Amino acid sequence: MAATCCGNLEPRGAPDRLVREHIQNESLSPTADVWQGLRMARADSERAPKALAERLFATRRLTLDLAAPLSDADAAIQPFPDASPAKWHLAHTSWFFETFVLRDHVPGYTPFDDRFAYLFNSYYEGEGARLERPKRGMISRPSLDEVRAYRAHVDEALERAMPALPAAALDLVELGINHEQQHQELFLTDILATFAENPLEPAYGDLPAPACFAIEPPTFHPGVDGMVEIGASGDGFAFDSERPRHRLFLHPHMIANRRVTNQEWREFIDDGGYRTPTLWLSEGWDWVQREGIAAPLYWRGDETEFTLGGRRHIDWAAPVAHVSYFEADAFARWAGARLPTEGEWESFAASADAHLGNQLDSAGAVAPRPGGGMFGDVWEWTQSSFASYPGFAPAAGAVGEYNGKFMCGQFVLKGASCATPRGHSRASYRNFFPPDARWQFTGLRLARDA
Ligand SMILES: [Fe+2]
Repeated sequence: MAATCCGNLEPRGAPDRLVREHIQNESLSPTADVWQGLRMARADSERAPKALAERLFATRRLTLDLAAPLSDADAAIQPFPDASPAKWHLAHTSWFFETFVLRDHVPGYTPFDDRFAYLFNSYYEGEGARLERPKRGMISRPSLDEVRAYRAHVDEALERAMPALPAAALDLVELGINHEQQHQELFLTDILATFAENPLEPAYGDLPAPACFAIEPPTFHPGVDGMVEIGASGDGFAFDSERPRHRLFLHPHMIANRRVTNQEWREFIDDGGYRTPTLWLSEGWDWVQREGIAAPLYWRGDETEFTLGGRRHIDWAAPVAHVSYFEADAFARWAGARLPTEGEWESFAASADAHLGNQLDSAGAVAPRPGGGMFGDVWEWTQSSFASYPGFAPAAGAVGEYNGKFMCGQFVLKGASCATPRGHSRASYRNFFPPDARWQFTGLRLARDA
C-alpha cells in the first residue's frame, strides 16, 4: 500500500513542524514500503530461537524489576474489581507459561503448586474453575516472596526447555511474552490506582518535573481516503484480532497532528463540558450523573493530579490521560470534531515507527509528556467497536479465548502509552476497553469529516 497521508512521520518534540516538513518534502521520511521492510526484518530477527529466549527472559526480569519497590502489602491490594493486585500479575503471567508451554509441551514438568491454577487462571473457561475476579485482593497467601519463588521455578523450567521446544510451543512463548508485556502495563496502571486510594499519596517512583512549555494549536491534515488496507500482514507476531489484513473504504477526513492536551481539557471543563447533556451519549450522560464525574480520573481539583510519582502539578502541555470513551466522545463533540475510526487512525499511522515515542524502557514511574507522535504517552480512543475483522479466526486451543470472546461492548484504542513496553505495539494493534474505563493511560486525537 502506498503512503499518501501526510501526518505519518513520527514527530519528536515538535510534531507540527515535522508534519509540515513531511508534507513539503516526501524524501524526509522513508516510504511505507521501506518501513514495512524494516519492520519485517526486525520481526524475523526477533523470532529467531536465541533472540526469542533473550526477549523472554528480559521480559520476565522487567516484571520482577517493576515489583521491586513494593511491599507485600502494596502487592496484595486490589483497588477495584477490574484491576488486579501486583502479586496476582506476577503469578498469573507465570501460570500462563506454566500451563500453555510447560504443562502442554514439556514431558515430565512438575507444577510448582497444583493449587495455583485455581488462583491464577484469569478467564480461561477451557482451564476450569478459578477464583472470582473481584476476590483477587483476598489472596494474602502465597506471599510476594513465594510468588517470586513460583516465578523462579517457571523460569528455570523454561530455560531448560527452550532449546528443544517445538515450533508450536515457541509460538506460545511468543504469545506469552506479549501477554506478559500487557500485564506489565496493567501492573503500572493498577499500582497507580492502588496508591491513588491511599491518603498518604505514596509515590511508586521518581518523575521529572512537568515541562510546562506552551504548545501550538493542533492542525488538521487529510487522512487517506478511498480503499485502504488495515490489519496485520506478514509473519511477524500479531494477536489473532489484528488479522486478517483486509480492505476498507474510508471517506474523506482530516486528522489532528497531535493529541488533546490537559490545557484543552481544562477549557472543556471551564466551559461546562461535564454539565452539558447535549454533548454526551445517553449512556455517557447517565454515567457522568451516576458516578459524579467532573474531571479526568486522577485530577485533584487544585491544578494537581496523582501520578506514579505522587501528587504533582498538572503538565498542561501534556496529552490528557485517564479519560473514558464517553468523555473523549463528549470532548470531541464540544470541539466540533469527532473521534477517528480505527481504519482512519491506522492508515494515518502506517509509516510511523511504533518503536518511537514515550514508552516503557525500564522499571520506574512513567507519565505522559508533551510533544509525542502516534505512539507513546497515551492510548487513543477510536469510535470503532472492538469487533472481528472479515475472515477472523480465533487462535487454536485454549488461547483462542484470548481476544475473540471480548468482542462485545468495548471500543478500540490505538497507538501505545508511556506504560507500554517499547516494541509491544504496532499500527495494527487493537487495544480495547469498555466505554467507561479510564484507569489506563487513555487519551484522544481529534478527527473531522472533510
Ligand atoms: Fe492475562
